[in-house]
Amino acid sequence: MTEYKLALVGFGGVNRALAQLIAERNERWKTELGFSLTIVGVTDLFQGSVINRQGLDAAALAALPVVEGALAQLPGGDATASNEAVIKDCGADMIAEATFTNPVDGEPATSFCRWALENGKHVVTTNKGPIALHGAALKALAQRNQVGFEYEGSVMSGTPVIRLARQLLAGSTISGFEGILNGTSNFVLTRMESGLGFSEAVKQAQTLGYAEADPTADVEGHDVRLKVVILANELLDAKINVNDVRCNGISALTLGDIEQARQNNARWKLIGAATRNADGSVSASVEPRLLSNDHPLASIGGATNAVSFTTDLIGTVTVSGPGAGRTETAFALLSDIISLHQCATQHRKTCP
Ligand code: HSE
Repeated sequence: MTEYKLALVGFGGVNRALAQLIAERNERWKTELGFSLTIVGVTDLFQGSVINRQGLDAAALAALPVVEGALAQLPGGDATASNEAVIKDCGADMIAEATFTNPVDGEPATSFCRWALENGKHVVTTNKGPIALHGAALKALAQRNQVGFEYEGSVMSGTPVIRLARQLLAGSTISGFEGILNGTSNFVLTRMESGLGFSEAVKQAQTLGYAEADPTADVEGHDVRLKVVILANELLDAKINVNDVRCNGISALTLGDIEQARQNNARWKLIGAATRNADGSVSASVEPRLLSNDHPLASIGGATNAVSFTTDLIGTVTVSGPGAGRTETAFALLSDIISLHQCATQHRKTCP
């Protein structure tokens, strides 16, 4: 039985949910998965930091109030973040990185991943910024240092998409994908179909916790653009960046547009897509598309996400499920850890 020592970088909802899962399920994982997780360090820009090489109490961590300097309440805790010490020196084998997404330069998350990889630690992350903006460099760094780098939660949280396509669709060439990759915008469009105005629908999405504090990234397609870059590079070997993705959001759609679509047995959806062209290049876009009601993505309502892969051997494969949420995204980190463990123990050829 393997014991992995884990450091949590960022202690918001996702890593708190991971701590809660560890508190509840670690014993079960020993028999079901063949490993256990011991949290040896936590650091957070707002809540401070704590290190204990013998292992922190996961339940006590998860129960801490979300207040400034909260980690100082634990023995040995500090009210200030110690990112470098926790990532490099707390004795962790792996880092669970779940800090905020910076869509401009991916920082500070990219540096956190880099420090960990350079110091021979596996990284699992849910953060779109480092993957969309610096994915190739970080993957190369991981390979050079012979450690794993997994990021299933960067697209559609815990709903399996990246690894499913990479591993389970291997052997059947994927020539493109189209998806509903932002829960907020899909929720807004669904509410508008019930007659709610755009601004009111956005406010509801914020109240329900789907939208970012500044929902511009959700409704203008910027969040989807990062996910399109990640999927296109991962599944189509596209080597594109955000500037290669044509991007339009849903803010210009009116209740009149939505109603007119309904009368024509169609629905507006914000679609992130990429396709391999005959010359080998890849075209990628984010845009509102009018889908006929019999399209596989037309019936995906509310905050649910879905993506359809176009494959040569089995046609179109559509996966649908949650695209956000604390536990859902923490599950993605767990699935990354399982994948790393399987790579280490089974020497699988599908390991990155
Ligand atoms: N705000 C995002 C959404 C969260 O609504 O889908 C997940 O990236």
